[in-house]
Amino acid sequence: MHKLQSHRGLAGIGLRPAPGEPVRLPIHFFTIAIFSFALGTAAAPWAAPRLADYFYQLSILSWVHTFTLGWITAAIFGVMYRYVPAMTQREIRYPRLATVQLVLYFLGASGVVAHFMLGSWDGVWMAGVVVVISVILLAINIVPCITPGFGRGVAETGMLIALFFLLCASSLGALLAFDKDRGLVPGTLLHNLSAHAHLAALGWVTLVVCAVSYRFMTALIPQGAQVPRSAMVQIFALAAATVGLFLALFTGVGGVSVWTVASAAALVAYAIIFEDIVRRRGTGADWTVRHALAGVFYLLLAAGAGVWLAAIGVGSPLGARLAGAYGILGLLGWVSNFVVGMSYQLFTGFVMRARLALGWPPLNTAELTVSSGRPLVFAAFNGGVLLMAGGLLTGQLAVARTGAALIALGGLVYSAAMAWTLSFAYRRATPAAPDRLLRAAQD
Ligand code: HEM
Repeated sequence: MHKLQSHRGLAGIGLRPAPGEPVRLPIHFFTIAIFSFALGTAAAPWAAPRLADYFYQLSILSWVHTFTLGWITAAIFGVMYRYVPAMTQREIRYPRLATVQLVLYFLGASGVVAHFMLGSWDGVWMAGVVVVISVILLAINIVPCITPGFGRGVAETGMLIALFFLLCASSLGALLAFDKDRGLVPGTLLHNLSAHAHLAALGWVTLVVCAVSYRFMTALIPQGAQVPRSAMVQIFALAAATVGLFLALFTGVGGVSVWTVASAAALVAYAIIFEDIVRRRGTGADWTVRHALAGVFYLLLAAGAGVWLAAIGVGSPLGARLAGAYGILGLLGWVSNFVVGMSYQLFTGFVMRARLALGWPPLNTAELTVSSGRPLVFAAFNGGVLLMAGGLLTGQLAVARTGAALIALGGLVYSAAMAWTLSFAYRRATPAAPDRLLRAAQD
């Protein structure tokens, strides 16, 4: 975080918060994210046999949205509220609206997850509408900041397009749930489901992660490196492929395979550009970079699985198993690795700013970090994702269950460490152990 703040473009708003800035808002979003990740990963051993049965069922929909809405989207919102003003040097115009947005988002997202679990489609669409409203409120604050950078800055461009896709995907999700007892929306269930899932997973989550990761990783290169032009081309190519894939699935006009290959090509391009930026960074890999590279590895596997799925369809037993593995590779392997890596880089800085704004005793990064569990988190989570996806694909439930147990272990250790860090934005106390260590070192 220090490095990011000292970099040009992010230096405009430094560690010191602006008066009236809702400084704990991102932290509230991170708290929702960490709680959801703990819940979702802890439930992985419960979800594995269900997912092995069939990917489309209410309990799995609830589990999937614990990650997509509760973990991933909440974490991205938290980053946006801090990162967008810092990057664009424009403050959030309506801080109180942002607080309303947080509350609505929490109610809506938890409502979607809970009503899937309860089997109430009416509950899902009503909660879904609340999520849609909260996305509009977020856009009212964020879009004016990033619009001037559209077509110029890769992060601004990607975020703007991704927010549009999020609005469309969440509206479609609410519509599909509304339609369950009404049958107004044309098309088959699996095509509509796939259209919604890809609009959200590719158009929102993947696009925003690509855009933000280019910018973050470039900011870590010394001597003022620039994001390469190819990154902007990749963002537009991925957006175009997402629109093509969505229309092909939703309208049934055909061409799904063509757009799947186009999307996969845009993702391979991302992997190449991103690896090049990481190489230019020069210094050795830390846990942020390791998680990012593991994420890129899983992205490539997910892209391959997506092309394979487009070729064989979900109709056969193999296709149905592949669909489950595909979801695990994409949502846990690719996106979650990125969010974990990003959180290692950002969370302590967010807590430090919050304490500064509240006038609480300052703490530094070392005091706020529990780093001893990071190798375990990396190994357990990534090994678990590989085993769970492999077990689902090959129909070996014991392997999938072992993978799920490892995901739970990695997820819970990670969540406990990050919850501890975030807790210092809610309590004035200073961490006891690092203090003692510090004093012992000084004696
Ligand atoms: C307002 C927010 C959302 C609502 C109301 C919603 C609703 C739904 C519904 C109703 C389905 C099942 C479709 C059907 O039965 O026809 C579904 C599936 C799915 N959604 Fe969402 N969704 C929302 C946001 C998201 C987001 C942000 C993502 C991010 C990736 C996402 C990813 C998925 C996935 C992957 C599936 C397929 C899950 C499976 O097959 O087991 N959704 N969603």
